[in-house]
This record gives sequence, C-alpha cells and structure tokens, in this order.
Amino acid sequence: MTGTETGGTKAITIGVVAESGEGERRVALVPKMVQRLTRRGVAVVVASGAGAGASIADDAYTEAGATIGDPYAADVVVGVAPPTDAEIAKLREGTILAGFLAPLSDSDRISALEKAGVIAFAMESIPRISRAQAMDALSSQANVAGYRAVLLAAEHLVRFFPMLTTAAGTVKPAKALVLGAGVAGLQALATAKRLGAQATGYDVRPEVADQVRSVGAQWLDLGIEAVGEGGYARELTEEERAEQQRKLTEAIKGFDVVVTTALVPGRAAPKLVSAEAVQGMRPGSVIVDLAGETGGNCELTEPGQVTTAHDVTIVSPLNLPAGMPDHASELYARNIVELLELLVDTDGQLAIDPSDEIVAGSCVAGKDRLGQAAAGDSEES
Ligand code: NAI
Repeated sequence: MTGTETGGTKAITIGVVAESGEGERRVALVPKMVQRLTRRGVAVVVASGAGAGASIADDAYTEAGATIGDPYAADVVVGVAPPTDAEIAKLREGTILAGFLAPLSDSDRISALEKAGVIAFAMESIPRISRAQAMDALSSQANVAGYRAVLLAAEHLVRFFPMLTTAAGTVKPAKALVLGAGVAGLQALATAKRLGAQATGYDVRPEVADQVRSVGAQWLDLGIEAVGEGGYARELTEEERAEQQRKLTEAIKGFDVVVTTALVPGRAAPKLVSAEAVQGMRPGSVIVDLAGETGGNCELTEPGQVTTAHDVTIVSPLNLPAGMPDHASELYARNIVELLELLVDTDGQLAIDPSDEIVAGSCVAGKDRLGQAAAGDSEES
C-alpha cells in the first residue's frame, strides 16, 4: 500500500480497523483526527463500517480525506481492542500496530505479534509522564468508565441521589463511597457529587486525599498505605488485606452506593468488599464493580452480570467505555494521533526514535526491529 508523494518519497498509510469484539462500539480514529493526519501527507484507509458503532458513517471519513478500503494493507494499523488471532494473521511483517494490547495479562497475544513480525505499541504501556499525557488512553477511557459507573448506580438505586425538599417531605441525599481514587475513581466521585450525592473516596495511596477533596468529596482514611512503583498501588500483604476488609466492612454499612475501581497493574483485582460487607449494607443499596475484568473488587461480583445478594444489587459492567462510543472514540482518537505524531514526521514519513522514553516504554513487540522501521523500509515489506 502506498501513501501520497512528498518530495519524491512516499508517505505512509494508516489503516483503521473495524472492531470485531462483542459490544465494542468504539473506533480508533474519528474524522477530525483523520484530517489532522492527512495534513501531514499521510494517507488514511478506513475499513467500511468502522465508525458505525460510534455513529460515524463512511462518508464522514471520506469527506475528511480518508479512503474506504482494507486497513490491514497499511503501513500502520490502529485499533481499539486487542486483535484476535484471525486479525493478527492479516497483519503483514513489518506492520506497525497501535491499540490496547493487554500486554500484562495476555502474553500469548504479544508472542503472536512478535512471531508475525509486527511492531506493536500498547496504549496501556505508554509511560505516565507529563509529555505523554495527551496519549494517555488508560486515563481517557477511565474517565468515561468512572462517569458511566455512577449513572449505572443511579439507575439501579431505589433512592434519589440528590437531597430533595418537596411538599411530600424531605429526601436525604444518597451516600456514595468510591473505592480506588485513580482516574476512574475521581471521575466517579465528581459525577456522584454533580448528581447531588454525598461522595466519599478511599485509596491506599495517601497522596490522592487532596485530589478527592478537590472534587468536593470526603476522604476516608483507614490508615493503610500501599504505594508501589510508578505511582501505582502495590498489592497488600495478607495482614493488610484482612485489616482493610475488616475496616471497610464497618465503613460500608453507612453507604447507599459503593463504586469500586481498585486495580493493581498485572494482578487480580484486590478484594475490598467482602460478602459480610454486602450483607451489612442497607437493603436496596447498589455496588458497581468496575474491576470485573480482573475478577472484581467485591467477593460476590459475577463479572459482566447484574446480581442481587442480601437485597443489594451488584453490577459488574465490562468495557463501560464502549457503551459511550462517541466521546470515548473522540478522546481515544486524540490519544492515538498524539502517539502517531511521535512516530511520523511532518512529511508523513516514519521517524521512530527507539531511545525515546515513550517509544521504548510502549513498544511491546518487535522492539529489535524499531531501528529499521524508518522511512522507506515499510514500503519494501
Ligand atoms: P489504576 O486504575 O491502576 O487503579 C485505580 C486505583 O485503585 C488507584 O488509585 C490505586 O491506588 C487504587 N488501589 C489499588 N489497590 C487498592 C486497594 N487495595 N485498596 C484501595 N485502593 C486501591 O489507577 P490509575 O487511575 O490508572 O492511576 C494510577 C497512577 O497513575 C496514579 O498514580 C495516577 O496519579 C497516575 N497517573 C498519571 C498520569 C500522568 O502523569 N500522565 C495520568 C493518569 C494517572
């Protein structure tokens, strides 16, 4: 596949796949971002129907300067969800791939990409440094998840979120507790607050207390600190875990809504809410567990299901960002383009610096071939 001519050399082609995962409605590039790329002379090829889930018609892409065709023939292929085996088989040797690739939990897929000769960049592995903030897809999608988690909680709760003063009496505001105050948790707190609930946040990283207060929520201090590497939480020891569960079981009794978002990279989700804690909640309360994909933060969570235990509704949504595909895709596309602009120069040629911290951090397959992936090389493969 050839891109456009720039000064005698051919600019690269970027392919946008149609997502195949069940319920995946996001798309990796939106028309506005296509325009930004084509201004560099890069050609963009979009799979027919790729934007349908996000209500973006093929015409909107062609009007933005893309063509509709086979994205797998492009030099650089972009997607949202990790590729299936069948999709990996369509990638040519030397192709550059960017998207969520689950490098910490799916080493088989990374090996398959390596074997296929693909140079793969995982959006999850982009270092969380200031320069990479605009590429931080974990954060952009966690924001969507945190927001939607609270809407789900409001949907299932048998009570109001806000305080209401009516002729028929005064309704007390709901009390919402958010466990894990990272990006999703902070957005959940801010959303619960906007809906009128009394919001409280909890985390094992004490430095987030000020961030919790800054969105108008209270901070729950249980006296357990577990700061790990790179600003993430570490796994708790067995004793710490038991102490945390005991203290949380007591604290949770006072809340109508619990939203859990606690994750430790590459590990099973920590179990914060015990069966006993669920039993202690007021009947009609709701737990929304965002950690279902890695087993859940609540002992009674059934990933992907809505269940009831002790008259408490436990909601475990999977892939919440896919359910709000318009803005989720818009934000993700911006993240992808920021990464691509690091890999492609202003003439639309590949210009990858293997020693760049972001390149080195996010390249999870084909690292040894990075040096060869310069302008022109991709044309021969
Ligand atoms: P995450 O999704 O990995 O985890 C969510 C939250 O769960 C974290 O706040 C974590 O501390 C908490 N958690 C883990 N185990 C827990 C336990 N047993 N009990 C209670 N809470 C527990 O986190 P996220 O949102 O991806 O953020 C991780 C780090 O990345 C943070 O330090 C954040 O400030 C940093 N970050 C940096 C950015 C940048 O500089 N560009 C952008 C976004 C995040």
